[in-house]
Amino acid sequence: MFDWPDSSWFRRLRLAVRNWFARNARDLPWRGTRDPYEIWVSEIMLQQTTTAAVGGYYRRFLDRFPDVKSLAEADLAEVYRLWEGLGYYRRAAQLHRAAAVVLEQYGGTFPEDFEAVLNLPGIGRYTAGAILSIAFEKRRPILEANTIRLHARLLGLRSDPAQSETNALLWEMAEKVLPKKAIGDFNQALMDLGSRVCLPKRPACLCEKTLWADAGSEGCPLVSLCRCAEAGLQNEIPAPKKKPTFEETTEIAVLLRRGKKVLLLRYPEGVRWAGLWDFPRFREDRPEMLSQMTGRNIVLGRTIATLRHTVTRFKITLRFFEGTDLGRCGKAAYETRWVSLAELKELPLNSTGRQLAESLADG
Ligand code: ADE
Repeated sequence: MFDWPDSSWFRRLRLAVRNWFARNARDLPWRGTRDPYEIWVSEIMLQQTTTAAVGGYYRRFLDRFPDVKSLAEADLAEVYRLWEGLGYYRRAAQLHRAAAVVLEQYGGTFPEDFEAVLNLPGIGRYTAGAILSIAFEKRRPILEANTIRLHARLLGLRSDPAQSETNALLWEMAEKVLPKKAIGDFNQALMDLGSRVCLPKRPACLCEKTLWADAGSEGCPLVSLCRCAEAGLQNEIPAPKKKPTFEETTEIAVLLRRGKKVLLLRYPEGVRWAGLWDFPRFREDRPEMLSQMTGRNIVLGRTIATLRHTVTRFKITLRFFEGTDLGRCGKAAYETRWVSLAELKELPLNSTGRQLAESLADG
C-alpha cells in the first residue's frame, strides 16, 4: 500500500494552491471564458503544445469558427489552413470530425457526460477532465506533463511516471487533491504551478529566494509539504524518460514547374498528413514512390534547399530538388494539381511544405 499523506496535508495543500493561484494566475486567452466549445478548442490546441505557441492561433481560430456549427460545416482544408504551423494536424481533423458529431448527436451543445465526451474523436482522459472541470465545474481530475512532475515530486515518487502502477497512483493523486468547489480553477492552478514553479530543471525550491522575489514571484508555496524537496531529490524526481532512439532518414521533395505553376499532391486518408497538400515527396530509399504517387516520369535535377527537422523519433533530412517532367507513366495514386504561387498560399500544406513554398516565393 502506498503511504498517502493524511487529510490535513491535503487541506493545507489545497489552501496553498488556491492562495497562490489567486495572486499568480496567468492571463491566458482562454481563461476569460467558460464556454465549453471555446475551452474544448483551447485544450485540443494545448495538447503537446505550449501556451506560448498556441497564443495567436486560438483567437484566429475562434474568430473564423465561433461555434460548433460553423466548425462542423467548414471545409477541412480551411480548418487545416488555420491550424498550419501548430503541428500534429491529426488534432485539427479530429476536432473537425468531433464538431460534426456534437452537431448531429447533441444538437450542437457540447455534452456534459464524461463517457460521451471521452467518445469524441481526439479526446482522452486528460482532455475530457480538463474540459468538464473548466467549463462545467465537474469534479474530474487532470494529469498532463506539468502535473505529473508536480505530483510525483509532492509524493516523492521515484519510479518512472510512464510505468502503469506509477501512472495509476498519479491519477489517484490528481483525484484526491481536488477540492469540493472551483475545480476548473484548481486544475488550472496545478498546471500553472507545474509549468512556472515546479520546473523540470530549476524548480523554485532550488533557486535563491531573491531571484524569485525579483521576478515578482514568491517561490514555491508547497515546499513545506513536498516530500521531494524535503529529501533533496529534485534532480531525481521525476525519473528521467527513457531516451528515444532516433532514426535518421532522408526524404526528397520535388519542384516540378509547368509555366508559372508547380505540381502539388494531396495526401489521402489513412496516411501521414491526410488531407494536406505538399510537393511530391518520398523517402530516399523508396524512389519508386515518386512515379506511383504522381503518375509521372520525373528525373531529378539540382538541389534547391535542404531542411533538417525532427518528428517524434525521426531525424529527417529533407532535400528539395528541381525535377523535370518526362510525361505520364500511369495512374496517379494521389490527387495531384498544378497550382499557381497565389493558389499555393491558400492551400493547406504541412509545415515543411510551407517552408519550401516560401523559399520559392522569396527566390
Ligand atoms: N495546459 C493545458 N491546458 C491548460 C490550461 N487550461 N491552462 C494552462 N496550461 C494548460
